[in-house]
Amino acid sequence: MQKQNTPQIRRLRKFRTEAVSPTRCRTLTRSILRWYSCHSRALPWRLPAARLNAHGGQGQAGNISNPYRILVSEVMLQQTQVNRVLEKYPRFLKRFPTIHSLARAHQHEVVIAWQGMGYNNRAVRLHQLARTVLQQHGGKFPEAYQELVALPGVGKYTANALLSSAFGKDVPVVDVNVRRVLSRLLWQMRTTIEMKPESEIWELAQSLLPAGKAYDWNQALMDLGATICTARAPQCISCPAARLCSSAATMKHVTSSPGKQEPSRDGVPNRIYRGRIIEALRQYRGRRRLHPDDIGKQIRPTYSSRDRFWLRSLLAGLERDGLIQQP
Ligand code: ADE
Repeated sequence: MQKQNTPQIRRLRKFRTEAVSPTRCRTLTRSILRWYSCHSRALPWRLPAARLNAHGGQGQAGNISNPYRILVSEVMLQQTQVNRVLEKYPRFLKRFPTIHSLARAHQHEVVIAWQGMGYNNRAVRLHQLARTVLQQHGGKFPEAYQELVALPGVGKYTANALLSSAFGKDVPVVDVNVRRVLSRLLWQMRTTIEMKPESEIWELAQSLLPAGKAYDWNQALMDLGATICTARAPQCISCPAARLCSSAATMKHVTSSPGKQEPSRDGVPNRIYRGRIIEALRQYRGRRRLHPDDIGKQIRPTYSSRDRFWLRSLLAGLERDGLIQQP
C-alpha cells in the first residue's frame, strides 16, 4: 500500500533543497507545541494552550474568540511591549467594550483612552476601522482575507492574526519574533541580527503549519521568540528545539558571552519589578503580613506559581539591600 503524505509534508516538498526535511520539521513542530503546552504565557487576548495528550493533542481550529478584542490586542502589540499592553488593554476595553462603542465615540475620546501607548495614529486608525466595519459590514468582521486587508490599517499580518486567532483558520502569522525564530531554526544565522527576508519566511511559515493546530503553533512561535529565542540573548539551553536548530551552534557564542544583559523577566528588567515590589508594599502599609504570591500578582499581571522562585530571589535581594524586611 502506498504511504500517504500529510499536508505538511506535501507543502514542505519545495523546501527540500534547504536543510528542511519533512521529518525534521515534524519533530520541530511537535517539540515546540509540547513546550508551549507547558510554558505558554497567559495573556488576556489568548486562548489557553491545548494540552497535548498521548494521542497527539487537540486542535484549536474550531475555537472562536472575539475578533474585536483580538484586533485591539494586535494593534496595541504592533509597536508596544507586551507588559505595557497588559496594563492598557483591559482599561481600553472597559472604556470601549465593543466595536459599536468604539465606532460611536469621538476620535479625541479614543486618543485619550490610548494614552500611555504612544503612536497615537494607531488609535485613529483603529477608530476608523471600527467605523468602517460598522458602516460596510454591519458591525460584523468579515472572515475573508481580501475583505480584511481592505479595512483601514489592516495588512497581511493583522488580517492573518484575526483569521488565526478569532476565526480559527489555519494561516500563519509572521511578526518580527516569528521571523527571527524561523530564520534561526531553519537556516544558519551567523549573527543575532541576521534574518531571512520576510517573503521567504511567510512561505516557510505557511509550509510548516501543523494542520488544525495553527493557532497554538503561531502563539508558540511568538512566545519562543519573546522568551527564549530573543533578539540579543538567545537562551538555547532552555530551547525545546535546540537539537534541531540550524543556528544553535552560532548562537552559543552569544549565549555564553558574559552577562552584559540586564537580569529580566519576559523583557522587563528586574529593577523595574523591584520598584514595583516597594510600591506594592508601600500601599499595603499597616497590614501585618503579606504573602509573596499577593505581591507577585501586584507586580506582574501574568504571575503564576512558575514565578515563585524568581520572586523569592528578588525579595531576598531587596532584603540584602536593606530595603525590606521579611518575616
Ligand atoms: N505580538 C503580537 N501578537 C501577539 C500575541 N497574540 N501574543 C503575544 N505577542 C504578540
